[in-house]
Amino acid sequence: MTRILITSALPYINGVKHLGNLAGSMLPGDVYARAMRLLGHEVLYICATDEHGTPAELAAQKAGVSVSEYCDQMHEAQKQAGADFKLSFDYFGRSSTQSNHELTQHLAHRLEQEGLIEERVSQQVYSIDDDRFLPDRYVEGTCPTCEYEKARGDQCDNCGRLLDPIDLIDPYSAVSGSRNVEVRDTNHLYLKQSLMADRLRSWIDAAEGWPNLAKSIAYKWLDEGLRDRSITRDLSWGIPVAYQGKVREGFENKVFYVWFDAPIAYMAATKDWAAETGNDWACWWRTDQGADDVSYVEFMGKDNVAFHTLSFPTTLIGSGEPWKLVDKLKAFNWVTWYGGKFSTSQNRGVFMDQALALAPSDYWRWHLIANAPEGSDAGFTFEDFQARINSDLANVLGNFINRITKYAGAKFEGKVPSGGEWGAPEDWIVAELSERLPKLIAYYEAMEFRKAAAETRAIWAAGNEYLTQAAPWTHYKTDVDAAAIGVRVGLNLAALFGILAQPIVPDAAEKILAALNIPQNNRTWGFGAENSDADWKVVVTAILDALPHGLAVVAPDVLFAKIEDADVEQWSARFGGAP
Ligand code: MF3
Ligand code: ZN
Repeated sequence: MTRILITSALPYINGVKHLGNLAGSMLPGDVYARAMRLLGHEVLYICATDEHGTPAELAAQKAGVSVSEYCDQMHEAQKQAGADFKLSFDYFGRSSTQSNHELTQHLAHRLEQEGLIEERVSQQVYSIDDDRFLPDRYVEGTCPTCEYEKARGDQCDNCGRLLDPIDLIDPYSAVSGSRNVEVRDTNHLYLKQSLMADRLRSWIDAAEGWPNLAKSIAYKWLDEGLRDRSITRDLSWGIPVAYQGKVREGFENKVFYVWFDAPIAYMAATKDWAAETGNDWACWWRTDQGADDVSYVEFMGKDNVAFHTLSFPTTLIGSGEPWKLVDKLKAFNWVTWYGGKFSTSQNRGVFMDQALALAPSDYWRWHLIANAPEGSDAGFTFEDFQARINSDLANVLGNFINRITKYAGAKFEGKVPSGGEWGAPEDWIVAELSERLPKLIAYYEAMEFRKAAAETRAIWAAGNEYLTQAAPWTHYKTDVDAAAIGVRVGLNLAALFGILAQPIVPDAAEKILAALNIPQNNRTWGFGAENSDADWKVVVTAILDALPHGLAVVAPDVLFAKIEDADVEQWSARFGGAP
């Protein structure tokens, strides 16, 4: 048993997330958390809304409410959307809590004491009509690289380049639209990341649980020379630049930069969880208080990698305190929508709260994991969604469970039958599962989500193949015992399939396991824990005769209704499908 701390990148507060966001951090984090719990590990899965920064202020302004009211509402909406998608967070917190204010200020103070923070004068776009500095997204203009005319101050959405607002050509205020702007001097705090480059490099060299995508992004930044970065902004909403309750002189109208405080909220949310549940938080985060034996795993989109491999570690290592650093990290590419980008303004793509009106959460979970944007971007189309759900869930899993439970009901009084002799079909399925089960577990441990889904499907498909070989319906006419073994092994397979389905399609799994009367404590993956050198044939043989003979089973209600062509047509029309 290992203690596993899992975080997924904190979703920005500015709106319920679309399916691409879900697929690139929160959903795989959840699937991993569920699999690790099933394998008997002690898991703590933490997430929260990321509530500071200009996107929050701008969204609140658009909604016509105060920022704090906006954040309250959107936090609830995002929390609900997560619950509806069955994301099994142990805690879904907020970056705006008192605990995050305290921890952020504490860490900034520590960094300053360690000589890693410096106050510097920099140039900033000032709007004369708005009477304020315009940080990040408060200023827009023409991208100096690609000449896109609506580039934001922090990044160009067209070419992806990260920008400094003063780089923009023809800048204007996103608050008022005024072009009456000029560049003025202002003071900000800078985190001297450059001083940390060597320490970061040797830490990354030694890291083992990082995929290539993450390492190559981190090295790219290091090779280009790590730049010091400003960690304060001219905003009123956020964490005040104060140490021990005293605002820093000249920083009365400034707050910490959202990317400085957001990752610290991983710890602050853990603290809030601990306070609410009477648990200890330090044993998860402080290596001097037990966290040295925690395995810490982070999930994120690829745009987050630099922050999680360089900036946040700079904060933690630079503080001189014994904070837990990330052990394994899983980064995702993008989900594309019919080959393009998801876009709220152009009504392209489905958002989490809309998705569940179209299809149950299991359908989305299955498709997004089976098609996870792992090696490259993954395209989403309703046509693929329909094909995969109808094939994998309805035809392969649903059909198997339905066939075997109905048949047991019709011919064996709805009970697990005794009798019959082990034969060639049973040997075949044992051999098949002895190969596949350890692979499945290894894929989960390696966070290879596409492969885990493909292996799960292959196991379900092997069940159908087994029934074809065992053919209880043929034997029944001449030899009821020969039919009984097929039904008994078939029902045990059904139970196993439900047990294996839990991480990705938890609702369907629950229906299957309830129909088969499997008690909660028999639903774990005890067969896989610490079992790398188990004799899998022995393990699988036991699994295939695990249900007590005579146990009553019923056929579950329809597990998966097929997606019809008419649904696809209607959805594409509504959410921007094929052009
Ligand atoms: N809100 C950021 C995003 O959506 C992610 C923040 S992750 C954290 O890209 F580490 F900062 F919390
Ligand atoms: Zn550009």
